[in-house]
Amino acid sequence: MIRTMRPVIVAGNWKMHTTPADAGDLARTIEARTRVDGVVRVLCPPYVCLAAVRDALAGSDVAVGAQDVHHEATGAYTGAISAPMLAGLATWTIVGHSERRRDACETDELIGRKVVAARGAGLRTILCVGEELADREAGRAREVVDRQLWGSLGPADPATFGGDDPIGFSIAYEPVWAIGTGRNARGSDAADMIGAIRATLAAIGFGAGGEDVPVLYGGSVASSNIDEFMAEPSIDGALVGGASLKPDEMAAIVARAGLTAAARAAAVA
Ligand code: PGA
Repeated sequence: MIRTMRPVIVAGNWKMHTTPADAGDLARTIEARTRVDGVVRVLCPPYVCLAAVRDALAGSDVAVGAQDVHHEATGAYTGAISAPMLAGLATWTIVGHSERRRDACETDELIGRKVVAARGAGLRTILCVGEELADREAGRAREVVDRQLWGSLGPADPATFGGDDPIGFSIAYEPVWAIGTGRNARGSDAADMIGAIRATLAAIGFGAGGEDVPVLYGGSVASSNIDEFMAEPSIDGALVGGASLKPDEMAAIVARAGLTAAARAAAVA
């Protein structure tokens, strides 16, 4: 018998796509096409589309997320958006995405402060980690992900992260070489890494050996490969980029995630 049932989550990261004029329609279409029991659905549009997507999803159980937050609550930070500013607009946020690490030179230490700021403001937070291709080829993938986790989560008190909310804090394992390339990781490789991630969470001080923390896979997830990931018991869903802009793709991805959710529910029943 499985002691706990981790939730199954499918989050769409729209990145720098959509406008306030068209984001609501896309969100509404995806919502209608992804009504599957047991799957937590989240859409993360650009900041300027948050209000439109929130309005379009009102009355549904699809959550709205931001793609990033600043590590401070207020201050002289031109162009930045803080976690408390998102009140009423978003209930989730992504932090530490590899595109932010790359383009905004975000460090693990800074990303850790963002996690604390986001959780402090009550946002459900997805922390992204993942190695570059050179790291994987050199056999350093685990070392890199381990360093990212310790660097961002090590300094804080793990008790503050998830709290009592089973989806308050989750991790997305996103190998950088798989993001936007059409070249996904193998399900078994992702599962190996996610096992290592949970071991690191346990070493950092997360309770239950890290087993309570949902860990998603991200990187070229599509209807054609979602099965490979959802078949792995350690993988709790997907962070979807390009395919999350396509309703047909999202419908198929969430439908497959729903099979895992149903199987988990049956296993604890
Ligand atoms: P992708 O992006 O699905 O387009 O590879 C995933 C992500 O960056 O979260």
